[in-house]
Amino acid sequence: MLETNLERIKHNLETLSSFNSTPGKGYTRLSFSPEHRKALDFLSKACESMGFEVMIDPVGNFRAKLKGSDPGAPPIMCGSHIDTVLYGGKLDGAAGVVAALEALTVIKEQNVPIRHSLEFIAFVEEEGASFGGGLIGSKALVGKYTVEDLKNLTNDEGLSFYEAAKNFGLNPDELEDYVLRKGDVKALLELHIEQGNVLYTKSIPLGIVEAIVGIKQLAVTLTGKANHAGTTPMNLRRDALVAASNIISFVEHCAKHEAFDTTVATVGKIWCFPNVTNVIPGKVTFTIDIRDIKTEGIQRVEQLIKEEVKRISDERGLQYSVNLVGESDPVKLSEKVVSVIQRVAEKLNVNFLRMNSGAGHDSALLTEVTDVGMIFVPSIEGISHAPEEDTEYEDLKTGCDVLLNALVDLAQ
Ligand code: GLV
Ligand code: MN
Ligand code: MN
Repeated sequence: MLETNLERIKHNLETLSSFNSTPGKGYTRLSFSPEHRKALDFLSKACESMGFEVMIDPVGNFRAKLKGSDPGAPPIMCGSHIDTVLYGGKLDGAAGVVAALEALTVIKEQNVPIRHSLEFIAFVEEEGASFGGGLIGSKALVGKYTVEDLKNLTNDEGLSFYEAAKNFGLNPDELEDYVLRKGDVKALLELHIEQGNVLYTKSIPLGIVEAIVGIKQLAVTLTGKANHAGTTPMNLRRDALVAASNIISFVEHCAKHEAFDTTVATVGKIWCFPNVTNVIPGKVTFTIDIRDIKTEGIQRVEQLIKEEVKRISDERGLQYSVNLVGESDPVKLSEKVVSVIQRVAEKLNVNFLRMNSGAGHDSALLTEVTDVGMIFVPSIEGISHAPEEDTEYEDLKTGCDVLLNALVDLAQ
């Protein structure tokens, strides 16, 4: 069996995590930022030095190809995302990017015969930290986002993904030519940190993902009346923030008690206007992120929240809107690819657990066009989307070895 090089993995991870706009306060690499540019330049150099064919697609997905012996055989893709959340960790996305780069590097270095080409991919804007919704690179790649959609996805400054991509030197108008259809790709493999504590608490070094949660993200806006905080009696107020606080409490209650054990819901972002100490809040917008491995769990929570938004707004004389920010369905991964990964883990004598993913991944979108498999490595204390996010290097190396050998198995 083949082996990856831990020193190179460490070096590449450290380099990638140095492209960070918030040093000392976690890791931040937002899409189309100077740090994103540096990360792409680093990947380009690393791939070109290995003789891989490098290309950045019209929306910013970085791709590099190691050619197989059969030009007619569809490629196998491998990678993860290059962006981070604000103040996040150094491994979410980056671990899978470095792992894929390492796997292709070993295959090339050791002249491992492959029939199918291998394509390294670093997806753009998986987190949605800038343009909302998330999974934008993969949605565009499988045709779920059109150029028009990209014009409607905007950041907090009102700049659209489309414009930002153009400013970054890309040409999103050419997206259609790059959309993948069924049969274009034989399989896709992604290594990722688990981001939960299942593997860590059980001391199991490897997770083989069977299914990925569905996600629905909404934005709720409540409009009341801004007024003087000292002169407006309590019974004459239309306070949008108090209404929002009631709804936010309901979101937690609803996910906890009204759906399944697997259902979760989070309000993670809020804007309050005018956001002034002595003014009654006239308008509030907040996001809701609902997830479940079962579609019915998401649907039930969404329905109950919408009813509660209406009830509370009516009661308090507010106007309201609930808009869809982004969604992806729960998906099952390919049993074929899962069994290849499992066979490799058994051959390498690696203890593993078949499990579900509570985090969203670009892999979920790729199931629309190809067979997908995912490998998880343990997250220390189950922490992720936070500066403390970490994985033991030994576990990361194990995951990389499994990824490498599974890729070779699929490519031959
Ligand atoms: C991405 O990390 C997500 O699960 O939101
Ligand atoms: Mn993430
Ligand atoms: Mn991720």
